[in-house]
Formats: sequence, C-alpha cells, structure tokens
Amino acid sequence: MKSGSTREWMIVIAAFLGVPIALVTAGFFAPAEDSAESGAMDTETTMIAVAPSKTRGLDLESLDPSRVVGPDEECSTCHIKETESWESSSHYLKFKDRHRSAEAKSILKAMGLRSMKRSSECYHCHSTPVEDEGKVRAQWGVSCESCHGAGDQFVRVHNRVKGDPGNRSFRWGQGKKEDPQDRLMRLGAARDRGMINAGMLYELGVRCFSCHVPGDEQLVNQGGHGIRNDFELVSWSQGEVRHSFVSSEGAPSGATNRPSTKEHRRRLYVVGVMVDLEMSFRRLLEVKELNGKYHRLLVERVNSARKSAEAILRSASLPGLSDVLSCFPESVTMTGLPSADGRLSGLADWTRKFSSSSHSDLSCLDPLIPTEVMGSAVQ
Ligand code: HEC
Ligand code: HEC
Ligand code: HEC
Ligand code: HEC
Repeated sequence: MKSGSTREWMIVIAAFLGVPIALVTAGFFAPAEDSAESGAMDTETTMIAVAPSKTRGLDLESLDPSRVVGPDEECSTCHIKETESWESSSHYLKFKDRHRSAEAKSILKAMGLRSMKRSSECYHCHSTPVEDEGKVRAQWGVSCESCHGAGDQFVRVHNRVKGDPGNRSFRWGQGKKEDPQDRLMRLGAARDRGMINAGMLYELGVRCFSCHVPGDEQLVNQGGHGIRNDFELVSWSQGEVRHSFVSSEGAPSGATNRPSTKEHRRRLYVVGVMVDLEMSFRRLLEVKELNGKYHRLLVERVNSARKSAEAILRSASLPGLSDVLSCFPESVTMTGLPSADGRLSGLADWTRKFSSSSHSDLSCLDPLIPTEVMGSAVQ
C-alpha cells in the first residue's frame, strides 16, 4: 500500500475493489468464495476473526477473545519497532492503572459493577481480552489485534511468501522488494483469515470508532462515561498511534517512522468523517432512552459529521457522495428518532470503495483537515 510503484498501487486497488473482503456480515460484504487469492487455502477458515455482536451494529465492531493470540510473543518478536511505538502510547500505558482511578470507580459503582478488568462492559474497549480455558481475561491494553483483527488464523500466513503457509517466511521490511502479485496474494490470504491490514482504511476506521464512540447507552446514561466529541481519524491516528516503519525508506535495518503523505491524510480524513456519520447514525437508531445524555451526544455527533461531510462535498467532486448524503436527513433533532433503512449500507459501501480506489487531486480538502495531532509518534 505504501510507497510502492503506481503499478503496484493499481493492482492492490483492483484487488480491493474486485475481491470483496471476507466478511460474512449483514449483507455489507460479499463472501470471498470468488477470491482468486484464497483458492489454495482451506475455506472453512475464511470467516472474519471478529465475531458478530448482538448489541452492536457491525460485525467488525468486536474482537473475539477466543481468537486473540496477544502481542507478547506472537507479534512483538518480529514487529519490534511497532511494539516500541505501541508501548509508548496511551493504549498500552493507561491500561496499567486506569482501573484504579477515581473516575473508573465512580463509573463502576454507578453501574453496579465491581471490576473494570473483569466486566465485559469495560474490557472490550479498555483492553485486549483473551479467552483461556473458557475464561476471559483482560490481558493487555488496546493492542495490535484490537485494530488489525484477532491473529490466530492470519499470523502464520501474513508473513509467508504468497501467503502460503507452506512457503518460507517473508522478512520484515522487505516489502519493497516483493513482487506486487506475491504481495497481493499474501495480504489477500491474511485478509481472508481476519487480518485488517494497513490498506483497509474503512475497516481500521470502524475499529477506532467502535471503541471511541461507545454503543452502550447504559455506560453513558447510568455510568456517566463520556464520549469525546473531538475524536477524528487524522488527528488521532497520526500522533502517538502512527507506526509506519515497514514502509519507511530505510527499512529493514534503518527503519524510521514514516510520516503519512498529504494524499494519505486526505483519504484518511474522508474515511473518518464518513465512518463517523455511519456509526453515529447507527448508534442513534438504537437509542432507547429518549432525551438522555447518550441520545444528546449522538444527535450532536451525527449533525457534526453530516456538516463535515457536506463540507467535503462542497470542496471536492467525489463521485457518488452527493447521492449517498441525499438519503440522510440534513440534520437530526432530539424529537424522536430517525427511521432505519438501507441508507447505512449505501454509506458503508461508498466509504469502503473510496478508501481503496485512486482519486484525482484532493488537495482542495486541505483546509478542512486538522493539523494538530494527539500525542507524538516514536521515531
Ligand atoms: C465502547 C468502548 C468503551 C467501553 C465499553 C468503556 N469505555 Fe471507558 N473509555 C473509552 C474510551 C475510548 C475512552 C477515552 C475517552 C477519550 O479520552 O476519548 C475511555 C475513557 C475512560 C476513562 C477515563 C475518563 C477520563 O475522564 O479520563 C475511564 C475512567 C473509563 N473509560 C472507565 C470505563 C469503565 C469503568 C468502563 C466499564 C463500565 C468503561 N470505561 C467502558 C471507551 C470505552
Ligand atoms: C514471524 C514474524 C511475524 C510475526 C510473529 C508477526 N508478523 Fe506481522 N509481518 C511480518 C512480516 C515479515 C511482514 C511484512 C513486512 C513488510 O511488508 O515488509 C508483516 C506485516 C504486518 C502488517 C502490515 C501488513 C500490510 O498492511 O502491509 C501488519 C498490520 C502486521 N504484520 C501485523 C501483525 C500482528 C497483529 C501480529 C501478531 C498477531 C504479527 N503481525 C505477527 C512478520 C511477522
Ligand atoms: C478496543 C478499543 C479501541 C480501539 C479499537 C481504538 N481505541 Fe483508541 N483508545 C481506547 C481507549 C479505551 C482509550 C483510553 C485509554 C485510557 O485513557 O484509559 C483510547 C485512547 C486513545 C488515544 C489517546 C487519547 C488521549 O486522551 O491521549 C488515541 C490518540 C487513540 N485512542 C486513537 C485511536 C485510533 C486512531 C484508533 C484506530 C486506529 C483507536 N484509537 C482504536 C480504545 C480503543
Ligand atoms: C490503535 C490501532 C492500532 C494498533 C493498536 C496497532 N495498529 Fe498497526 N496500524 C494501524 C493503522 C491505522 C495503520 C495504518 C496507518 C495509516 O494508514 O496511517 C497501521 C499500520 C500497521 C503496519 C504497516 C505500517 C507501514 O509501514 O505501512 C504494521 C506493520 C502494523 N500496523 C503492525 C502493528 C503491530 C505489530 C501492532 C502492535 C505492536 C500494531 N500494529 C498496533 C492501527 C493500529
């Protein structure tokens, strides 16, 4: 995805468009039977590694603890640089004592819960839960698999030449030398086993928003848990969260944390606004307690995301965007809830396509894109 040649880009783009992701979900994504890349693989393992959730809208929204391998041995042995970066981010650091904070105790008390690490009401977002002998433990903070998908099926595949588990391992940082077709096969095979790779911006965005815009009404109304209204994809992903080492100029031996190009930030920005609109709207549809705090926060989010989407539409000519937006009310109010229909899947489809196709110059969006970032990236 990264600094490859245009040809490589085009092939990857074609693959993402032509070979839908192996998410067998509520009709958003087609199954991967038609995937040329998965041909050689055992098909029973091609389910996405994120389990469907009853309380939340999208399948991508939760991690299945029984399929988590954990960062300690399974990721960090090879991904040393990424691990260094992760270990200096809040996702890792805050896990150590967040559960002991006064705010945590007050939320727990209000909800009648005892332990942040043992309550599923908390650990799905504040940790990487893992299932061990039938018991779920909050073992690490938000980690690699929280964003890239549970690793049990992809970890032994995503680094093999052509994605074939029988082939030799491919070396970290050698991506630039890899044949573009081989790379496609490798990433495709891993994706079919639940991996959310660095190019899947829509899916990555959904992962961020699934935690950063809680889908649990009680957490907010009863527990008093907040929802930060400034959560935005570019500013929150390009600071302490950024870990673009493998694609950096000097990789493997002299890898540095490559800052994203302007082009990439523009794409991320649009994806973030659209995922925000989709997920905030979806959450709004599920509100039970009218006029509660949760309801109000979601109405604000939907309206603000809608405004940002309008601004994108005014600045750039993005095919299909106008149609997708015209299906949404211009603004939502506190009186009653909007009704559900097919528009959310249209929105999701648009965003997924946008995130994986090439675009003409989007520099007209630059005035809209935040320049301040959250925290600082490890070098
Ligand atoms: C849907 C995901 C989600 C769930 C579920 C969740 N949290 Fe959070 N929580 C977050 C996010 C994201 C933040 C960071 C907020 C921010 O700064 O954007 C946060 C922040 C916090 C904070 C820090 C607040 C502050 O003032 O700095 C506390 C304390 C907390 N959560 C406790 C809990 C407890 C206790 C539970 C379970 C009862 C819980 N959370 C469940 C996502 C979640
Ligand atoms: C045995 C070594 C090894 C292990 C263990 C490993 N990886 Fe990797 N990983 C690699 C190699 C090699 C690459 C390709 C690097 C390149 O493109 O130069 C890679 C690439 C990636 C990428 C980037 C793919 C892309 O989008 O281009 C991600 C994300 C990733 N690994 C996540 C993980 C996660 C999460 C784990 C743990 C569950 C993990 N890896 C465990 C070796 C490993
Ligand atoms: C599994 C849930 C989860 C996912 C997925 C997730 N986050 Fe978070 N994130 C949290 C929680 C919880 C906190 C707050 C931790 C705390 O303060 O205790 C947080 C904190 C942060 C912070 C630090 C905020 C601060 O106040 O300093 C940043 C930045 C951030 N997340 C960005 C992202 C981005 C960008 C993504 C997607 C690429 C993402 N997160 C995905 C749960 C998640
Ligand atoms: C908070 C979510 C989050 C966490 C945690 C996370 N990643 Fe990532 N990762 C991303 C995102 C988002 C990208 C794509 C970055 C972009 O597009 O700017 C990415 C990109 C990557 C890449 C490709 C980098 C490149 O040079 O292009 C690798 C490799 C990777 N991650 C591995 C890991 C490993 C290993 C861990 C754990 C030590 C990890 N990630 C933890 C969200 C996350």
